[in-house]
Amino acid sequence: MARHDDPSEWNPPRIEGRLIELRRHAPENLATVLRWYADPEVARLTRYSLRPMPPEEVERFFQSRLLASGSVAYGIHERRTGRLIGLTTFSALDPDNGSVLFHITIGEHDAWGRGYGTDAARLMLWLAFERIGLHRVGLSVFAFNERAIRSYQKVGFRIEGRLREAIRREDGYWDELQMGILRPEWPGLETSWAAASESEERKSGA
Ligand SMILES: CC(C)(COP(=O)(O)OP(=O)(O)OC[C@H]1O[C@@H](n2cnc3c(N)ncnc32)[C@H](O)[C@@H]1OP(=O)(O)O)[C@@H](O)C(=O)NCCC(=O)NCCS
Repeated sequence: MARHDDPSEWNPPRIEGRLIELRRHAPENLATVLRWYADPEVARLTRYSLRPMPPEEVERFFQSRLLASGSVAYGIHERRTGRLIGLTTFSALDPDNGSVLFHITIGEHDAWGRGYGTDAARLMLWLAFERIGLHRVGLSVFAFNERAIRSYQKVGFRIEGRLREAIRREDGYWDELQMGILRPEWPGLETSWAAASESEERKSGA
């Protein structure tokens, strides 16, 4: 896929993965997004503050960052059913330095641990490295969020640093990890899917 210099080409309307499809947000997604952001468990895993984001703030974020035509932001839909299960976005896209920050939230609890997040992350890396032509994708994650860390490591993110005891939860203080992946470290979409199939086959004993 050729790199696109025109920002309007950075966010195709749909990107199909193995298990999920990324689709640009539609206004009717707001009600679902509001429900996810009211969920205390989602707040515990994703927010510095333990208080869920107030609905007015979620709505502002939805309109200005998720729905806006120029933003690289997608709803994550289960491919089999079309159900909206989460969202993923880039922020701080810096063309001068070729870097961006990656965010993902699967809001439906029954969709956790089924490979959907890893599939979505692979597509976002394809978008960053192949479509937009960036050099680096970074993220931050709380050290207790082992499912997220494992998923990020599976697509090639490495732990680059830690802010010690930056996050307070009911059970004490936790580090915030900085992770990143560089273009030369990314195996490419086809190769990373082939590796995923192999690991799934090993797990199922095939
Ligand atoms: C983080 C998130 C995107 C990951 O997506 P997902 O679809 O749930 O994850 P996947 O199924 O693709 O991969 C999870 C991996 O972690 C493993 N895992 C699951 N729970 C785990 C745990 N408690 N400890 C360690 N590993 C765990 C799974 O076994 C799997 O690895 P494997 O394929 O090698 O077995 C998703 O869970 C989510 O959005 N959670 C809520 C919000 C959140 O935490 N967002 C991230 C903020 S940084």
